[in-house]
Amino acid sequence: MTIGIGLLGLGTVGAGVAEILLTPEGRHPLVADLALKRVAVRDLNRPRPVDLPAEILCSDPEAVVNDPAVDIVVEVMGGLEPARSLILAAIAAGKPVVTANKAVIARYGEEIAEAAAKQGVYVLIEAAVGGGIPIIEPLKQSLGGNRIQRVSGIINGTTNYILSRMADEGAAYDAVLADAQRLGYAEADPAADVEGGDAADKIAILTGLAFGGSIDRAAIPTQGINSLDSCDVTYAAQLGYVVKLVAKAQYQGIDPAGSVELDVRVSPTLLPKDHPLAGVHGVNNAILVEGDPVGRVMFYGPGAGAGPTASAVVADILNIAGIRAATGASGQLDPLLAANRWRSCQLVDPGETLQRYYVRLQTGDQAGVIGRIGSCFGDQGVSIRSIVQFETSGDPADAEIVVITHEVLERNFRQALASIKALPDVNAVCACLPTL
Ligand code: NAP
Ligand code: HSE
Repeated sequence: MTIGIGLLGLGTVGAGVAEILLTPEGRHPLVADLALKRVAVRDLNRPRPVDLPAEILCSDPEAVVNDPAVDIVVEVMGGLEPARSLILAAIAAGKPVVTANKAVIARYGEEIAEAAAKQGVYVLIEAAVGGGIPIIEPLKQSLGGNRIQRVSGIINGTTNYILSRMADEGAAYDAVLADAQRLGYAEADPAADVEGGDAADKIAILTGLAFGGSIDRAAIPTQGINSLDSCDVTYAAQLGYVVKLVAKAQYQGIDPAGSVELDVRVSPTLLPKDHPLAGVHGVNNAILVEGDPVGRVMFYGPGAGAGPTASAVVADILNIAGIRAATGASGQLDPLLAANRWRSCQLVDPGETLQRYYVRLQTGDQAGVIGRIGSCFGDQGVSIRSIVQFETSGDPADAEIVVITHEVLERNFRQALASIKALPDVNAVCACLPTL
């Protein structure tokens, strides 16, 4: 039984998917049943890395969705619109959808899930988080019996690739970003990668799966690597840490109305060198899931690029194809899956969360300055793990002091920092990064 595939997009991911569908030998037997029927692109004249019959290419994505020969719609075009409307149109036409579009799912996931449940079709999103790493299905199914306490990870391949090459080779930021674009890791607008928005989209999706309810994507505190100063990476290394862009979602409790309270954020973060995420280099991603009773489970692998992402997209297509093959049906949802089982989830006030911090201060190199800084922290009950003055230029107006705190209430920490900023011998708070 042939299953018709319609591709929306033939860029990095789309071409990777087409390559797998066109070369079924040695893969799962069901791949041979998948036939690429129609492909939409923006520019029909652009050279493509895969050879496709000219008649299946078009520049009208709606024609792909509506083509009767297309049984499964694969959305790999990116952006919010028309991607969202095309996904909804496919659902309305009763066609299962596979998408890698985390930007759409993080913002419109609930609308799409509701439409899919009503229509009884699958929308599968394995490629939206972690590239080639299977993380969506494990969170949805394999870890379903757990109470999840925390999901944290390195979930943007571009920034991990940039940070790794800058740390290992001293490579220049702009040159490494250009390499990440050439290798197909970066988003069409790489600001989404370096400003942390892509990781925020992904942690929003993981949060929904891990804790059973969607959160307000726009409210996730997000800081990218574009705000990171290389001297903080150097100082962190001297103190036994590495700096990575970390996204985390931490269970905080249940509020009186029964809503799950969560601390969700994205930020360059100091990791002790022996932390499981510290050894994740290059384009690799890793997601650490902590739950009861499973303990700690880590998922690791290539987080971006044509091959790994296409691997995840094709896995979803095969999942749907397998259900069709087993049931002889149209790949429609079983009624149990279609039931709405979402919970209410909300972000907590970040000031009420417990964090460890790294702070770099520019101060005068004067007697007593470390004591005065220590007193500001002490007055707010902020316990210091280490405080170090780094080599200075010898200019008495110029010293750099780095403080690492124990786990403290963020509200107290911010108040202490405000008092420190007001000290006459403190010129600037140059960096303030969470530490795991
Ligand atoms: P890409 O290389 O920019 O490819 C986008 C494709 O969509 C292109 O073929 C483009 O046509 C086509 N397209 C865009 N808008 C269109 C429109 N309005 N009508 C018709 N065709 C249109 O992007 P990508 O890297 O493959 O990423 C695709 C999606 O996968 C995004 O949602 C991205 O976030 C996600 N993703 C990417 C990766 C990765 O490693 N790259 C990993 C995981 C998820 P032209 O070629 O003619 O311009
Ligand atoms: N731009 C994304 C990244 C692609 O670098 O992780 C994978 O989602």
